[in-house]
Amino acid sequence: MNSTDVRRNFLEFFQERDHTFVQGSSLVPHDDPTLLFTNAGMVPFKDVFIGNAARDYVRATSCQRCVRAGGKHNDLEEVGYTARHLTLFEMLGNFSFGDYFKEDAIKWAWELSTERFGLDPERLYVSVFRDDDEAFEIWKSLGLPDAKIYRFGEKDNFWTMGDTGPCGPCSELFYDLGEEAGTSSEDVMGGEGDRYLEFYNLVFMQYESRADGTRIPLPRPSIDTGMGLERTAAILQGKLTNFDTDLFLPLIEEVRRATSQTQFDEQGQKIARQVISDHARTATFLIADGVLPSNLGRGYVLRRIMRRAIRYSYQLGIRKPFLHTLVPLV
Ligand code: GLY
Repeated sequence: MNSTDVRRNFLEFFQERDHTFVQGSSLVPHDDPTLLFTNAGMVPFKDVFIGNAARDYVRATSCQRCVRAGGKHNDLEEVGYTARHLTLFEMLGNFSFGDYFKEDAIKWAWELSTERFGLDPERLYVSVFRDDDEAFEIWKSLGLPDAKIYRFGEKDNFWTMGDTGPCGPCSELFYDLGEEAGTSSEDVMGGEGDRYLEFYNLVFMQYESRADGTRIPLPRPSIDTGMGLERTAAILQGKLTNFDTDLFLPLIEEVRRATSQTQFDEQGQKIARQVISDHARTATFLIADGVLPSNLGRGYVLRRIMRRAIRYSYQLGIRKPFLHTLVPLV
């Protein structure tokens, strides 16, 4: 399934279940000094979750471009070296603002994954927050054996958007890419390896973290989810990495074509192609949303991203200005 169809199928699935389609917003969060970039699909809905704003719908679905290259969620240094980290990705989300809660969120995530996307249930694993017996039981009722429902702590299964804002325990879906994706001691559920790929996160929004360090209950328990488009496309295209999907291959090929005399071995060249392709996407989208390279804040993060891409291009033997030639492909 190509990435356009992954995106379309997700959004249609939730529209068929009475979710209003909402356009993704800018990477520069509107009126939110606590955030450098839009880093999750829930960011445009933050005020709705905490009860400071209302919409004329209680269910929404969106595809939100996200950047995780500064602040709490920062994957910059990982990019290029793992199969799954990106500084820019598209997050598909379904949201409930005080409407449905855990049971429907879990049930629909399973139905979407196994029926609409046809994923093999044998390859699916899930995690829940350590004492979330309710989520555990809902997964069990869908047929998952106890051994495939993992309980993790705050680090893995309590989602916060930043130091402040709405937050809550979460439940994640993982796809076993098989031994081909990795066999190290980290290629286990909860490990840092690439074998068990987390592709869908269901957050049970219940609290708001305040600047003074306290956590207060939200006015209404809500749902915030995020499915990674690039990761899901990789699974559905039978690939082991984001960079082997239709979203990246044209960029990877263009960098390969431009590569000249280089000191890098094959593995080093591969990493460089992945870094440059990821960073070209991020720079293009950030500039399109009004961020320009500078010495400060967002502009400085963009400058670091561009500088990293240009350094890797130089190390691939590319001596002419190159990064901008990837923009039409992005
Ligand atoms: N807000 C859910 C996530 O980013 O995973």
